[in-house]
Order: sequence, then C-alpha cells, then structure tokens
Amino acid sequence: MMAPLPFLLTLLSLVLASITVDDPSDYADLAADATDNALGVDYTTDNGGPSYLIYNITGPFYYADEDAEIDHHTLSVDANDTSVLVVTEGAVVNLSYSNVVKEGYSTWLNQASFYGVNAAINVANKSTAYIDHSNITVHNGAANIYAYGTGTTIYVSDTDLYSSGPVSHGLYASGNGTIHASNVRHFSGGSRCSSFSGDNPAGYLYVTDAIAHTAGIGSAIFYSLGESYGTDVVGYSENAPSLFSDGAQTSSFTNVDFTAGLLAGTVMFSSSTRSSGASLSFSNSRLKTLGDDMAALWFGNLIATATLHATELNTTSGILVIANASQITQSFDHFVGWEENSSILPAQVAVTVTESSLNGDLVAYNGSAISWTLAQYSSWTGAAYSGKDTAYLAVALDSTSTWTLTQDVYLQDFTNADTSNTNIASQGYSIYYNASSSANRWLNSSTSSLPGGGQLKSY
Ligand SMILES: *[C@@H]1O[C@H](CO)[C@@H](O)[C@H](O)[C@H]1NC(C)=O
Ligand SMILES: *[C@@H]1O[C@H](CO)[C@@H](O)[C@H](O)[C@H]1NC(C)=O
Ligand SMILES: *[C@@H]1O[C@H](CO)[C@@H](O)[C@H](O)[C@H]1NC(C)=O
Ligand SMILES: *[C@@H]1O[C@H](CO)[C@@H](O)[C@H](O)[C@H]1NC(C)=O
Ligand SMILES: *[C@@H]1O[C@H](CO)[C@@H](O)[C@H](O)[C@H]1NC(C)=O
Ligand SMILES: *[C@@H]1O[C@H](CO)[C@@H](O)[C@H](O)[C@H]1NC(C)=O
Ligand SMILES: *[C@@H]1O[C@H](CO)[C@@H](O)[C@H](O)[C@H]1NC(C)=O
Ligand SMILES: *[C@@H]1O[C@H](CO)[C@@H](O)[C@H](O)[C@H]1NC(C)=O
Ligand SMILES: *[C@@H]1O[C@H](CO)[C@@H](O)[C@H](O)[C@H]1NC(C)=O
Ligand SMILES: *[C@@H]1O[C@H](CO)[C@@H](O)[C@H](O)[C@H]1NC(C)=O
Ligand SMILES: *[C@@H]1O[C@H](CO)[C@@H](O)[C@H](O)[C@H]1NC(C)=O
Ligand SMILES: *[C@@H]1O[C@H](CO)[C@@H](O)[C@H](O)[C@H]1NC(C)=O
Repeated sequence: MMAPLPFLLTLLSLVLASITVDDPSDYADLAADATDNALGVDYTTDNGGPSYLIYNITGPFYYADEDAEIDHHTLSVDANDTSVLVVTEGAVVNLSYSNVVKEGYSTWLNQASFYGVNAAINVANKSTAYIDHSNITVHNGAANIYAYGTGTTIYVSDTDLYSSGPVSHGLYASGNGTIHASNVRHFSGGSRCSSFSGDNPAGYLYVTDAIAHTAGIGSAIFYSLGESYGTDVVGYSENAPSLFSDGAQTSSFTNVDFTAGLLAGTVMFSSSTRSSGASLSFSNSRLKTLGDDMAALWFGNLIATATLHATELNTTSGILVIANASQITQSFDHFVGWEENSSILPAQVAVTVTESSLNGDLVAYNGSAISWTLAQYSSWTGAAYSGKDTAYLAVALDSTSTWTLTQDVYLQDFTNADTSNTNIASQGYSIYYNASSSANRWLNSSTSSLPGGGQLKSY
C-alpha cells in the first residue's frame, strides 16, 4: 500500500538531510591515535632543521632507475626518517591492491616538508608512480604520498589515505612535483596535516572525486604552494580553513563542497614579502564556515583576485570577505599583523561574482581594499564597511545584477551599468561615494534617490 504523500515527502527530506559521506576516520581507531594526534611541532625553534637535504632518502622498497610492479602486498616500516617505498632516478613503479603502513617519527620538519623525508611513499627526481586500489596508513607524523622534483608525476586512484601525528599531509608535492588523484579519501587527525598540499618552491595538485576530512589545527583541505585544482571534492576541515594559500599561488575549485571550522573558509596570505598575483576560483560550489567570526574568504598581506561562479557562501558570521593588514603565523590558529611585525601590508583583493546569490558583508581593515563586481544575474544582500581604520571599498554592478543594502555604505568607487540604479534596493540606506575618485566621475558629484528611499551621494 502506498504511504500518504506527506509521509513520503517527510521521508525524502530526511533521507536528503542525512546523506553521510564516509572517510577513513570511520573505520580507524582514533582513540588509539589520540596521543599521536596531540603531538605538536615548532619549525621556528628546535625541530625545523636545515632546509637543504641532509639524508639519503631511503626505505625497504627502493627503486632507483628501475621499473617495478607491486600488487597485493603489504609494505611497511617502523623507523624514523625512513620511507616505505622510494621511487627515484627516473624509475616507474606501479603499486596496486596493496597496503602501505608507515610508523616512525620525523626528526627535522624541513626535511619532511621540502624533500619528503619519512613520507610513506616518496617519488622523486623524474620518476613516475601509479598507485591504485591501495590503503596508505601513516602514524607518528609522515606524508602519505610525496612527489619531489620537476618531471616527477604520481597518479593515485581508488585509494584511501589515513594519517595520524603532526605534519601528515595526504598528498604532498614539492620541488615542482605533480600529483593527479581521483577517487581518493583522506583523513588526518593531527595538526598541520592538510589533505592535498604543495610546498616550496611549488607543487601541482589535480584532485577529482575526493573526500577529505581533517581534524587538527593548520590542517586544511588544500594548502596551495604552486597550483591546486579540485573537482568534485567534499571537504571538512574541523579546525582549519578549507584552503591555505601562501604567496602568488593558484587555487581553482569546481563542484566542491567545503566546510571550515577555524579562521575562515579560505585563508590567502604571503608568509614573506607581500606578493601579487594569487588567484582563487570557485565554480558550482559551496563554501560553508561554522565559527561566528569566520569570513568565507580571508586575505592578508597579499594582492589577489577571486572569482565565484554559481557558488554559495554560507557563513554563520554574515561576513563574506575580509581583507586585512595581517597574516597567520606558523601556529595557524590566529591572525597577526602589524602588532607583531610592522612589515605586514594591507590586502588588495578583487572579487568577481557571476550567477550567484550571496548574503553578507565585505570588511576591509587598516588600509586594505576590496573590489566587488557583480555580473551575470548575481544578487547580493549586504554591506561593505571598515573593520578598522581606512578601508577602500569598491562595488560594481552590471545591469543583470542586484544589490540590496543592509546599512549605509561608504565607497571609494561605485559603478553601475544600470545608470538609473533600478537594480538597487536601498531599504532606506544610502550609498556615499568619494567624489575625488576618477571611477565616480560618471556621477558628477550629484545626489540622486535610490529605489527604497535611500540616496546616492558624494562624501
Ligand atoms: C648517503 O649515501 C652515500 C653513498 O652510499 C654515503 O656515502 C653517505 O654516507 C650516506 N649519507 C647518509 C647521511 O647516510
Ligand atoms: C634527488 O636528487 C637530489 C639531487 O641530486 C638528491 O640529493 C636526492 O637524494 C635525490 N632524491 C632521491 C629520493 O633520490
Ligand atoms: C603501470 O601502470 C600504467 C598505467 O596504468 C600502465 O600504463 C603501465 O603499463 C603499468 N606498468 C607496468 C609495469 O605494469
Ligand atoms: C583498504 O581498506 C578498506 C577499508 O577497510 C578495505 O575495504 C580494502 O579492502 C582495503 N584495501 C586493501 C588493498 O587492503
Ligand atoms: C625516533 O624518534 C622518536 C621521537 O623523536 C624518539 O623518541 C626515538 O628515540 C627515535 N628513535 C630512534 C631509533 O632514533
Ligand atoms: C623547480 O623549478 C624551478 C624553475 O623552473 C627550477 O629552478 C628548480 O630547479 C626546480 N626544482 C626542482 C627540485 O626540480
Ligand atoms: C615580517 O614580515 C615580513 C613581510 O611579510 C617578512 O618578510 C618577515 O620575515 C617578517 N618578520 C618576522 C620576524 O616574522
Ligand atoms: C546555510 O546552511 C544552513 C544549514 O545547512 C541552512 O539552514 C541555511 O539556510 C544556509 N544559509 C544560506 C544563506 O544558504
Ligand atoms: C586583522 O588584523 C589584525 C592585525 O593583525 C588582527 O589582530 C586581527 O585579528 C585581524 N582580524 C581579522 C578579522 O582578520
Ligand atoms: C594598522 O594599524 C596600526 C594601528 O593603528 C598602525 O600602527 C599600522 O601602521 C597600520 N598598518 C597599516 C598597514 O596600515
Ligand atoms: C578619495 O579618493 C581620493 C582619490 O583616489 C583619495 O586620494 C582620497 O584619499 C579618498 N578619500 C577617502 C576619504 O578615502
Ligand atoms: C554626468 O554628466 C554627463 C555630462 O553632462 C551626463 O551625460 C550624465 O548623465 C551625468 N550623470 C549623472 C549621474 O548625473
């Protein structure tokens, strides 16, 4: 017998609301790894170590200039500063239907970060690896899969990555190495364990069909140093943003659903001198932030562009964008700027929004600038204001896009393709523009009425 319609509808919505996504934390023994995951790191004092390579990268399964095929095996090691599988000097190694288990600590964190010392799988120096249908498990802090050097490429598919301990990135590429991954799942429980990470001078990551879940501070879904591309990725970073990007890097996401629990949805900065040319894009995606002080997009000490196409930003804070004269430190748990380092500069960010409907505010601090362009049938409900001191805020609308104001705004630049402003719902609030800015010359320092009772006038 058919159930009554209201019952079916209720059932349907419950089913939709309870979709669960599985990641390796669902079958791992997290309690057994609690001590491991509580381990900290401090690059600035005792255990950074030299930034040139001091080890011979080695492990029990070592292929240099020699091809191999490994399947249906369990490979493991329990030793500090040692890998399980090393592929180097132009070797091509295929690993299928296998388990790789790594235990043992990393003595020097720069060795692990820049060269993959202690990584479970280290593929280096113009080598290639194909990894499929495998489980890579690390304890005590180690990368799961590391690519090093120009000409090194790793292909990973149908594989689970589990890590406990600090600095245990899932996929980690450095020295211009490249990783292509599809149908992978990663969980990390420790701090500074991003799922998909690059490192100096650059790493290139192409990730499709992935589930990533990180629990620790500083553990993002993507950490861009180089280029990161994510397509069809569900990510949940409990104590980190979904993205850290350091410097003039590229981060591009399509059909992703990211939820972030600390700092902001994305955090883009320069750890050294302010760089220019960082870019971020989200297309057909959703970015959600949980904390009541977390913006969707955060920028500091950086000049960047961002595009949002058919994308939903869901914030608890009601803040879409922050640009600040600030950055994050290696503790990855708070923002610091001029109060600790007078060289930190304001952020300058240009965000272009297309085919999206967004709710929330733009907040610029301490000399920072946000330029916000709405195009292609976008709508925005919100305001732009200064968080502290001078803010340079610019809003541009095409004639298919709309803006509903939620408070008075003071703009350095205001441009509207609909010159009679019928695409604005002022709700009684006013737009004040800087009469001295050349972008506002079209307004002739005039005052006019906005739909909904507010005014457009100069300051
Ligand atoms: C690295 O390997 C070379 C050649 O086998 C050896 O001479 C050297 O002592 C090794 N270095 C370390 C740090 O183990
Ligand atoms: C890669 O090459 C560098 C430079 O020759 C060397 O120091 C390093 O040990 C090599 N890495 C591996 C994993 O063989
Ligand atoms: C390794 O895998 C690649 C990609 O699937 C394949 O083209 C190649 O033939 C394999 N090599 C060996 C030795 O099995
Ligand atoms: C990897 O782990 C999953 C989940 O426990 C299991 O189903 C699968 O058989 C494992 N793969 C290998 C190669 O052991
Ligand atoms: C491995 O590293 C751990 C943690 O630093 C240390 O306690 C242990 O003594 C090291 N083991 C060896 C054999 O050096
Ligand atoms: C990375 O690329 C840069 C620029 O091409 C090059 O100078 C550098 O040697 C490369 N690094 C490695 C480890 O291949
Ligand atoms: C201060 O900030 C500048 C610019 O970001 C950076 O290059 C420098 O290393 C920082 N100094 C310290 C002590 O962190
Ligand atoms: C944000 O997400 C919550 C819970 O998933 C939902 O109730 C709310 O409607 C969303 N807000 C926006 C603006 O999409
Ligand atoms: C803005 O930057 C200041 C200075 O670094 C910092 O104290 C503050 O926490 C930052 N606020 C936000 C929301 O970025
Ligand atoms: C930010 O504000 C502080 C305190 O007002 C000031 O000392 C600092 O110079 C400002 N920094 C910038 C980049 O404007
Ligand atoms: C107005 O714009 C002019 C020209 O860009 C600039 O010099 C001035 O500082 C701006 N005024 C304010 C209050 O921001
Ligand atoms: C500004 O002046 C130009 C030239 O007189 C005129 O075409 C335009 O309509 C004026 N704009 C406004 C907003 O008054």
